[in-house]
Amino acid sequence: MLNIRIEKTTTPKVLPKADNPLKFGTIFTDHMFVMNYETGRGWHDARIVPYQPISLEPSAMVFHYGQEMFEGLKAYKAEDGRILLFRPDKNIERANKTNRRICIPEIPEEDFLQALKAVVKMDETWIPDKPGTSLYIRPFVIATDPFLGVRPADTYMFLIILSPVGAYYPEGLNPVRIWIEDEYVRAVKGGIGEAKTGGNYVASLKSQVKAHDEGYSQVLWLDGVERKYIEEVGAMNIFFKINGTVITPKLNGSILPSVTRDSVINLCKYWHLPVEERRISIDEIYEAHKNGTLEEVFGTGTAAVISPVGQLRWEEHIMKVKDGDIGEFSQKFYDTITGIQLGKIEDKFNWTAEVK
Ligand code: PLP
Ligand code: COI
Repeated sequence: MLNIRIEKTTTPKVLPKADNPLKFGTIFTDHMFVMNYETGRGWHDARIVPYQPISLEPSAMVFHYGQEMFEGLKAYKAEDGRILLFRPDKNIERANKTNRRICIPEIPEEDFLQALKAVVKMDETWIPDKPGTSLYIRPFVIATDPFLGVRPADTYMFLIILSPVGAYYPEGLNPVRIWIEDEYVRAVKGGIGEAKTGGNYVASLKSQVKAHDEGYSQVLWLDGVERKYIEEVGAMNIFFKINGTVITPKLNGSILPSVTRDSVINLCKYWHLPVEERRISIDEIYEAHKNGTLEEVFGTGTAAVISPVGQLRWEEHIMKVKDGDIGEFSQKFYDTITGIQLGKIEDKFNWTAEVK
């Protein structure tokens, strides 16, 4: 159990007004959690302090070689006033998987959960309660040694910051337009694609800018070897409903094992809806669109929740899905997952964890 030192802010910020749209990732709460690591000493000095800039040497290793892990999860204010986290155990497990992949020391699971709960509790008044809003939680670790050689660091900082958010996409639950990238790739098997680390996101920027310039919200990646099989979208995994079956790419080492993806697969099984995790080629999607069996497309992610896709662009082909409307199943997954998150629907899967 961590012994968390607490230093409360003496200058609390004004909470966002009720009509603030809470543009994703722009507002930060009053406090943050911090803990340090040093080889030989382990994780130590756990504290909750006022949200503030951190001071690092310009030579800090994270700036040069990108040794950093991040996670994303949310806290919700339930109708009965409880504070709920959604499947924090999955984020903690994935954080340590990322840590192992990029040689960051693991964080004991129970300490991680304690830190999450403590900092959320500290800033609980910041959890918004309008429909579609939540408190986004961003835990991350950075390598801090002042050193320019390439090796795993000996010192790290683990921080958790909090941000009240609305929808990730300006479209909200309206379908987004997605650009299928056929030039650049995000990740390859054996690389770091399945880890949640900054390198994957910087690799995506050039394509994202191109897609935005063309009026598309995000990029859908194809596999890095044959540029043929569907991988995932910039900030979410992807699902297709073809001829009554829900299909999503199999976890193959180069895509992020998403918590929301796993939740959708579990719901399909619970509802006895045929669901397949397998390789899907872009040709298969194109064919399904042509013959009218591509019924729905949606993305899944913590920030994006369930995000219906209304249009896919692949080379010169534009594939409209559901005439740009939200599909029945996308809506059902959205309603069920957000219902569980908000404590409105019975949590049969034991997915929520209460912050007391
Ligand atoms: N894929 C990528 C690349 C992501 O950044 C995210 C966001 O976390 C996801 C998928 C969705 O994962 P999760 O549902 O765990 O948030
Ligand atoms: C999340 O959904 O939590 C993410 O990390 C997406 C992020 C890249 C905005």
